[in-house]
Amino acid sequence: MPDQPMEAGTSLETVRSRCVEAGQEHLLAHWDRLTIPQREFLLAQIDSIDFDLMSRLHAGGGFATDAVALAQRAQPPEAVLLGQSYRGFSAKDAIEEGNRAIAEGKVAMILVAGGQGTRLGFDLPKGMFPIGPVSGRTLLEMHVDSLRGAMKRFGVSIPMLVMLSPATDSATREYFEINDRLGLRHDELFPFLQGSMPAVDATSGKILMESPHQLALSPDGHGGLVSALTKSGLMHQMRQRGVEQFFYAQVDNPLVRACDPLLVGYHRLVQSQMTTHVVRKRFAKERVGNVVQIDGRTQIIEYIDLPDSLAEQTLPDGSLKLWAGNIAVHVFDLEFLHQVAGLSDSLPFHRAFKVVSYVDAQGVKHKPSAPNAHKFERFVFDLLPAAERTLVVEGDAAEVFAPVKNADGAPTDTPADTRRALSRLHASWLKDAGVTVEDGVYVEIHPLWAWDAGEVRDKIQAPGTITADTYFA
Ligand code: UD1
Repeated sequence: MPDQPMEAGTSLETVRSRCVEAGQEHLLAHWDRLTIPQREFLLAQIDSIDFDLMSRLHAGGGFATDAVALAQRAQPPEAVLLGQSYRGFSAKDAIEEGNRAIAEGKVAMILVAGGQGTRLGFDLPKGMFPIGPVSGRTLLEMHVDSLRGAMKRFGVSIPMLVMLSPATDSATREYFEINDRLGLRHDELFPFLQGSMPAVDATSGKILMESPHQLALSPDGHGGLVSALTKSGLMHQMRQRGVEQFFYAQVDNPLVRACDPLLVGYHRLVQSQMTTHVVRKRFAKERVGNVVQIDGRTQIIEYIDLPDSLAEQTLPDGSLKLWAGNIAVHVFDLEFLHQVAGLSDSLPFHRAFKVVSYVDAQGVKHKPSAPNAHKFERFVFDLLPAAERTLVVEGDAAEVFAPVKNADGAPTDTPADTRRALSRLHASWLKDAGVTVEDGVYVEIHPLWAWDAGEVRDKIQAPGTITADTYFA
């Protein structure tokens, strides 16, 4: 026993009785050997756990409906198709409406950056991965620069909310500070922390301990956004600022145009509450979520939950029936998010069976070689069926989707693929302005130099030929 008494003695008793009641008393098994700071840390962690929720999950409640069963009834979604009008609104109408809303300060951006680059084999937060094909700018820089491009174009300050997890929080904040918030002002950059969920032993439902004073916690999924926005006070702050829509994107896709006016505009014109950007899947089993319609509601079924026979269904013209791939770019009405944040069960949980190392009640460390634990996550796109009014908008993958998921050498979604896609897109803007880009040459355009093809046309006075890698900045 440490010689000093524990200050928070009463709270220890409260926590202990909560643990006992929940059948989780092993969480305090090492108490006597812990230092005071370790005890305080452990008490705070235990205190943050919703034991009722944990036992509900162990009993099988609170989960998403069996997606494989749902998938049987999946139909293609009604969508704004590329180049086509929708409910009387053309793309031009939508862009004008989007431009207006952005210029009036009604749009803020949310970037989710809580995931680690595990599949990528990168030790730092994924947002710090260098991706600019010529500049080597990081994923975070690409997003922030795109937002700064929008601010310049529309002459308005746009808040950037960056959701982080305990795995990415301190390194990303430090990265922002060292790099002058990547050019954003203090009142434009808002990092905030998502919640965590304990991993439990898959058989007993007991919460696993990472070390004698630490629970085995992992991020609660991007669905954690809903409660994290409220808890951080950002929902309130953004509402006070007059924000009506959040433009949401994932840090891993640097092709995203910040606050894409087309998407925001269509969302507003048809008074959608949640809008989703999709692209045509390149092949049936592409590893993207499938945006579908089930019993009249829009939903997303992850690729692992869509049986091959359904994924491979085709229409008479040979194209895929379930064609719409989720690129994880959404527009949310602030009021819709506020409303669902008030409902404890607005988002179901998804359970993953994983390998989680742990320390047992005797202090013995275990490194299982096969999955032993359940982790729980919420997905933000599960809000779709909860919305009364949703919209699906088709985009051209070459313009909007090139995620960095896997290390170079993998068949798809590698950094090399993303760099090529960025360069190809920017080359297409230059070609549109009359410039010739030689084969094999990489080009990259900084959004403050030109935000889109139109701005490139305005910039290029004397089109010539680009023969070496070039960065327009
Ligand atoms: C995700 C989508 C998939 C979509 C694809 C597009 C899910 C479950 N599936 O797949 O439908 O087609 O992106 O690229 O999301 N994140 C957090 N906190 C978390 C978990 C994730 O911020 O707790 C962030 C990550 O930083 C990342 C993003 O969410 O930016 C996606 O997570 P990831 O696990 O990489 O999703 P995918 O399986 O690639």
